Amino acid sequence: MDIAEQYPRAQVCSIDLSPIEPGWVPPNCSFLVENAENDWIYSLAQAFDFINLRALAGSIKHWPKVFSQIFQYLKPGAWAESQENDSSCFSDDDSLQKQWMIDAGFVDVQEKVCRIPVGQWAKDKKMKEQGMYAQALSADALEPISMALFTRVLGMSAQEVQAILVGRRKDIMNPNLHLYIKFRFVRQKTTIRWKVIR
Ligand SMILES: C[S@@+](CC[C@H](N)C(=O)[O-])C[C@H]1O[C@@H](n2cnc3c(N)ncnc32)[C@H](O)[C@@H]1O
Repeated sequence: MDIAEQYPRAQVCSIDLSPIEPGWVPPNCSFLVENAENDWIYSLAQAFDFINLRALAGSIKHWPKVFSQIFQYLKPGAWAESQENDSSCFSDDDSLQKQWMIDAGFVDVQEKVCRIPVGQWAKDKKMKEQGMYAQALSADALEPISMALFTRVLGMSAQEVQAILVGRRKDIMNPNLHLYIKFRFVRQKTTIRWKVIR
């Protein structure tokens, strides 16, 4: 929505599995209920100038396919950006996100890792604000991220999982714990390749 407001002449399309759109959206912004892992049905004439993914860790079964479709549906010279916070599923030294983009055909992939405080413990004003959002996001995300894994894979009951999460939620809200998450921005501009391939 920020991009749609900032660039009123652009057409912004957002997809999600659920109808998450707010009540009011800018007129140049559309929301579709769609699975990013399905085969994309856009025509190449509808190729994008910018494709952004954010906070999908734990949701996607086959990341390489997603990045491959992103690569296919970007115009020459367009940008792709993936934003995810690290979890223990990812390696710290060289991210899987980056490798998947390279495997999809992107070259010279840029990666930036930012430390985002959880809570308002940082002195810097901007980091304090980021920390407020990261704290709310982390507290909200605990249950959706944990429940399927802990019940279906570890065989716990939903009540047992809820009991564990009470403590973790307290940690997230504890101002004495100077927690932070590493947020990873991986982006790449596509090269002029259509003339060669088609
Ligand atoms: C943590 S939220 C992030 C929402 C949004 N991307 C953002 O950054 O504000 C994760 C969202 O991903 C959606 N999601 C999960 N798997 C998806 C998929 N395969 N295709 C499209 N959306 C998906 C979920 O429905 C959920 O709303």
